[in-house]
Formats: sequence, structure tokens, C-alpha cells
Amino acid sequence: MSNYPYVLGVSGASAQPLATRSIELLLRKGKEVHLILSKGAYKVWNAENGVNIPLNPDNQKKFWKEYLNIETENLTCHRWDDNSASIASGSFKTAGMIIIPCSMGTVGRLSSGFSLNLIERCADVHLKEKRTLVIAPREMPWSLIHLRNLTNLAEAGACICPPLPGWYTKPTNIDDMIDFIVIRTFDLFDEEIGNLNRWKEA
Ligand SMILES: Cc1cc2nc3c(=O)[nH]c(=O)nc-3n(C[C@H](O)[C@H](O)[C@H](O)COP(=O)(O)O)c2cc1C
Repeated sequence: MSNYPYVLGVSGASAQPLATRSIELLLRKGKEVHLILSKGAYKVWNAENGVNIPLNPDNQKKFWKEYLNIETENLTCHRWDDNSASIASGSFKTAGMIIIPCSMGTVGRLSSGFSLNLIERCADVHLKEKRTLVIAPREMPWSLIHLRNLTNLAEAGACICPPLPGWYTKPTNIDDMIDFIVIRTFDLFDEEIGNLNRWKEA
């Protein structure tokens, strides 16, 4: 747990509601969030929700505040190609970074240290600065290339946290499953961002 801001990267993998819920729970907890959607994320968000998210950072901030019905100044939106943003530097202190959901394209570029967009640059910085970097890879099945890239990232210090729900909490709907994944994922930052029916022995 830290009072520094979180960097939240959203890449063009399916399961965009995981990103939306992460943004919402962090902001509702009063956490500061620096948000970057990859070029692909805009397309997938539209495919899954039928809405075009504004690219302009100010308009996007307004969009999230209205969509999530939250009055906050703790959200900063960044363009995916703005590699000169404050968060692109290791001197910008953070509580850590999460990429949720994370596409195999982003995984591959991160694994080779090929920082093309702002998400990749920030993740590269988190690895070199030995800060927490959580990657929630979304693809099925995984090829040997995906597995090798993920292993490479784990060896470099990233936490690989595939977005898989548990069944022992007896979820009754998708929202329960989303909350399980998001809240358990943020355990990796020692951050309790929501209420979870955690496992207790009978
Ligand atoms: C509707 C839709 C769903 C997609 N889902 C996935 C996915 O689950 N995992 C994945 O690796 N790529 C997925 N893709 C492909 C990526 O969006 C594509 O490879 C993109 O170039 C990734 O770029 P990015 O990593 O910069 O976001 C999907 C694409 C679309 C249009």
C-alpha cells in the first residue's frame, strides 16, 4: 500500500470490464490513477460496449467521471502515443503499475524490451526501477511463444496474474466474478480496493 499514484494500462485484449472496474474501485477509494488505453483498447472497448471512448485526455477524463458517476480530480488520462508524459520517466514515483487486461501483443513487446507506446514505456520503467508491475494476460489458449514471453517477464520481476475467477465464493453473476478478479489482483499491491467474500474454512 502506498500513497503514490497507480499507473493503469489497458491494452487491446478482451475483458475490458476488468479495466473499468479497476478504475472505478481505485477512484472510489480515493487513489490517484494515471490511465493509458492502448490504440487497441479503444477498439475492443467499442466492440464490447458499443461506445467510442474519447482520445483527448480531458474529454476522456470527463467521459470516465460521467460513465462511473464519480466526482474526482484523482484521474489523469494519457494518450497511448504520449511517450513524453510525466509517467514515462523513472523519476516519477508510483505505487506500481498494472496492465489489465493485457494483450499478447503488449506481452511480446514488453518481453523484448521494445517500448513502442506509453504503456510499454511505463512497464519497462517499472521493471528497471524494481517496482511492482502486475500483468493480467488475456488470451486462450496460450502458445509456446506467449508462455515464453510471460516467463521472461516473470523472471524480470513482473507479477503474472491471469484474470481467472474462483468458484469457491459461489459467484451468482458476472459482476461477482469481475470483483473477485479485480480485488484479488490488487492484493498484489497490498491494497484492499473492495469487499470480497474471502475463503474461510467452515
Ligand atoms: C474484439 C477484439 C478482442 C480482442 N481480444 C484479444 C485478447 O483477448 N487477447 C489478445 O492478445 N488480443 C486480442 N485482440 C487483438 C489485439 O487487440 C491486437 O493484437 C492489438 O494490436 C493489440 O495491441 P495492444 O497490445 O497495443 O493493445 C482483440 C482484438 C479485438 C478487435
